[in-house]
Amino acid sequence: MKEGWKSLAEYINIALPKGRLGEKAYDIFESIGYGCPSIREQNRKLIFENEENGVRYFWVKPSDVAVYVERGAADVGIVGKDILLEQGSDVYELLDLGIGKCRMAVAGLKGTRVHSDHTLRVATKFPNIAREYFRGQSQEIEIIKLHGSIEIAPILNMSDVIVDIVETGTTLKENNMEPLEDIVQISARLIANKAGYKFKNRQIREMCEKIAALREGKE
Ligand code: PRP
Repeated sequence: MKEGWKSLAEYINIALPKGRLGEKAYDIFESIGYGCPSIREQNRKLIFENEENGVRYFWVKPSDVAVYVERGAADVGIVGKDILLEQGSDVYELLDLGIGKCRMAVAGLKGTRVHSDHTLRVATKFPNIAREYFRGQSQEIEIIKLHGSIEIAPILNMSDVIVDIVETGTTLKENNMEPLEDIVQISARLIANKAGYKFKNRQIREMCEKIAALREGKE
């Protein structure tokens, strides 16, 4: 840790995904007593800490959260199950936070047949999830890896189907597409570094218990 920052060991270090999901996750942490008021200030800072309750937050790219946690730069983090499945990260998955709910699905232009003797061209940001799913279906595929706006691929006949996140279904509908097969339900998970979970076991378990109690109170 560079000068001016306390060592990692003195804090619970939490990696939050930048964006709406991270903000919702922070609300949860705040309401169970891990608040860090400076995080609410609109600025470009990426690290926030509250010495009083011993927490430090990092804002990171959603797809990088599990990397920070796996390498122990963060003790815990919030990450979508989609990213966990895709990256196969070596971390403990401690809790389903019940936020960021959506599903991973195969989708295509209306009336598209998913299964055939031909190799299916699949456009996706999630090649590992797609491969695993179609292996289970004994369907030959060719992956076309994209980084966003996946729905365009079948419209331009660059792929037969897509494997992507469906939340409200609006993007599919507005592009004349439909979900064809559901693959897996997705939501945000609390993950922990394996060594950190041992060394900071009491603090991390206490955090989990408080989150679980909050969730039970809401259900
Ligand atoms: C995600 C996903 C779909 C869309 C689904 O895209 O890849 O395109 O949201 O949401 P909906 O069912 O509520 O319409 P995102 O907004 O992350 O942008 P992207 O196209 O860059 O992946």
